Amino acid sequence: MSTTYRGARAIDVRGAEGSRATLTEHGAHVVRWVGPDGDERVFTSRAAVLDGARAIRGGIPICFPQFSDLGPCATSHGFARCVRWETKETRDGRCAMTTRATSEEFKAPHETTYEVELLDDGSMRTTLRVRNAGAEAFGFTTALHTYFRVGDAERTRVELGRRGLTYLDNLDGRRAKVDEGDTVVFEGEVDRIYKSAPGTIRIVDEASSNGPRTFHIEKSESFPDAVVWNPWIEKARKMSDFDDDEYREMVCVEVACVDEIVVAPGSTWVGSQTISVSK
Ligand code: BG6
Repeated sequence: MSTTYRGARAIDVRGAEGSRATLTEHGAHVVRWVGPDGDERVFTSRAAVLDGARAIRGGIPICFPQFSDLGPCATSHGFARCVRWETKETRDGRCAMTTRATSEEFKAPHETTYEVELLDDGSMRTTLRVRNAGAEAFGFTTALHTYFRVGDAERTRVELGRRGLTYLDNLDGRRAKVDEGDTVVFEGEVDRIYKSAPGTIRIVDEASSNGPRTFHIEKSESFPDAVVWNPWIEKARKMSDFDDDEYREMVCVEVACVDEIVVAPGSTWVGSQTISVSK
């Protein structure tokens, strides 16, 4: 169903038992996800700018055709989050949007589709499909950059499911480090790329307003990596589209592939995440 979200053209997706998601045409960006329990599950900043030009702060930005600066584009996280997508299909519990946008630095003919499904068990699956519509192979890196709404970042932990994972520390020149533990807590800025992370990652949100809850993120094998990010105090102050104290209300866990994916002509790369919530 067509709607608007803070003035931007959007599609409302209605799932079972009152679950609901809203995607803006700008960026095919999930800006709201409300579970069957009425709880807000993704965080979108009060200061986000929905001017149809820049990326929306919060929700689920799609990083394509590059994650961060890992690719040819001058724009961090690529251009997909900054262009208008076309709605391809919308029906009960499901919406698919598509783009063929290119840029000066990334001209490869492609058809990229993003599908959002609200499943009957209250979970949400989001799937990115990148089809090579040209005659030559091309490469890209990508992430689904989900901002999870939490009651208090300081009372939130990310359970990675395994000790000894290697991460690239974005706060230390992307040096590779080994994580002795299996849990990330938030007591300051965190910006890590976990390489070959387990298929299921949990976020334990102890201070959620309606009682503690746990997000379970299941990622497809085509998203081998996971990024964990919270800007904390200083960086929050520097972000004009993010309120100074909002770092407490979110943590990002991003399913990602930071090494180049090569798609042959006529082939399609598919990556998905399924997010469920338990109390
Ligand atoms: C994360 C990166 O994925 O995105 C961080 O690891 C970055 O380094 C963050 O700060 C937000 O990026 P942006 O471009 O949306 O401000």
